[in-house]
Amino acid sequence: MNITIQKGDIAAFEADLLVIGMFENAKGLDGVAGVVDKALGGLLAKELKVVGFAGKEGTMLIFHTHGKIPTSRIMLIGLGEPAHCSLETVRKAAAIVQKKAVDLHQRRIASVLFAVGVQGISAKDAGRAIAEGVALAAYQYDKYHDEKAKKREEHGVQEWTVVEKLAAHVRTAERGLAEGMLGARGTILARDLVNEPASIATPWHLVEHAKRIADEQRHVSVEIFDREEAKKRGMEAFLAVAAGATEEPYFMHLIYKPKGAKKRIALVGKGITFDSGGLQIKPGEYMTTMKCDMAGAAAVLGVFSVLGAVAPAVEVHGIIAATENMPGKSAYKPGDVVRAMNGKTIEIGHTDAEGRVTLADALSYAVTKKPDVIIDLATLTGACVSALGEEIAGIMSNDEKLSARLRAAAKESGERLWELPLASEYASLVKSDIADLKNISSSRYGGAITAGLFLQNFVDKNIPWAHMDIAGPAFAERDTVPYMPRGGTGYAVRMLLQYLKSF
Ligand code: BES
Ligand code: ZN
Ligand code: ZN
Repeated sequence: MNITIQKGDIAAFEADLLVIGMFENAKGLDGVAGVVDKALGGLLAKELKVVGFAGKEGTMLIFHTHGKIPTSRIMLIGLGEPAHCSLETVRKAAAIVQKKAVDLHQRRIASVLFAVGVQGISAKDAGRAIAEGVALAAYQYDKYHDEKAKKREEHGVQEWTVVEKLAAHVRTAERGLAEGMLGARGTILARDLVNEPASIATPWHLVEHAKRIADEQRHVSVEIFDREEAKKRGMEAFLAVAAGATEEPYFMHLIYKPKGAKKRIALVGKGITFDSGGLQIKPGEYMTTMKCDMAGAAAVLGVFSVLGAVAPAVEVHGIIAATENMPGKSAYKPGDVVRAMNGKTIEIGHTDAEGRVTLADALSYAVTKKPDVIIDLATLTGACVSALGEEIAGIMSNDEKLSARLRAAAKESGERLWELPLASEYASLVKSDIADLKNISSSRYGGAITAGLFLQNFVDKNIPWAHMDIAGPAFAERDTVPYMPRGGTGYAVRMLLQYLKSF
């Protein structure tokens, strides 16, 4: 789909559907709605009165223009109270319109720039939010569903034109639209990778994407280590998890290196392409969605897939240790002890706490690249989902400034993120009698935090580090926000891009 912006008067624009935003209990029709009402000879004001449309958030009104203007249908989309309006309101409004348009077979949409000037929303931000809402709502994973795919082909929105009167707004909103489209593009790659069945989305599949990205994106290169190379580098922890798998494991290191970058950021993604639990196999109902256990890696690849185009002024390293966690005949066992790349030994207390074992090596490797910041993303614990629910990720960090900066980026992108304490009083819960550490806690409580504390052993205390447990929001099992269909959500791609752009 194409999203563009034009300078002009929306009432004079010819499309299948014109879309105007309306705040709750707005007194009279002002702004664009007033202009359109005038063009319609007062028809719009009359209709609003008759049906009692009040502009509540998420509500809409559609009516026919009876040939009085070039477009035959107008949709008013409710934006709620101006005092509660945010970029998320705009994103959701655009998403609701996009979905309704598909239902109604309206293929060419023209909309205003919603909410500019309200709550400090700039034309650029409004443009970005519209592009995100529209492009993310249009996403559908229909590769294996011919009927759905055909419907999308036949009825999907083809063109969305933002029509804006002010030339200055047009110029800045255009930049916003472009940014929004890039963020959506990265998010959609992450969604596709997560949604792809584990039989297809193998470690090698991730490698293929990493290689393609390095080919396509400016300033991006990639290094791949196979099992032998990983062994040479001392990644015994990662390879222990891979021991029970049929698919070959791969370790990936992507590098984005623009000219003149002053800082180096490492993004580490958990890349378990399927988590069966290993020998301590998961009960069926807990295993069904475990193709999503590489969502951290998918987010890293999503970010890299647009980095050349987004062009942040910072060096970025993407690090992924990809393997399945399977109970094959050579599988690692409870009670095994393995040595991670940084020399620390780990007692395996549970084969299903595999993510932190692979991350031990991925983080150790990241440290050797001497980054200024390390951020890891992992569908790490069910405990984090218990604590924060399915839509909010947990963040733990050894650096308050880094955590605040990431939470600010998440606020901008509309991705929910909440801080959990890296409570040193619990650090002893992941100590082992026979090794430096064990991969489960001695307590059944606070599992998201103890997992974070385990990981902390593999980063340097002088390097600002943040760990995001995305087990909840990485995969949507039910419908939530209108631009988030069920399945992989691409969580964190947009916030990370926002963060990287802030350098
Ligand atoms: N991949 C799971 C965590 C998970 C749970 C991700 C739900 C997405 C949704 C992880 O590897 C796991 O199995 N964790 C165990 C740890 C336990 C054995 C200490 C858990 O959370 O139960
Ligand atoms: Zn597991
Ligand atoms: Zn896992």
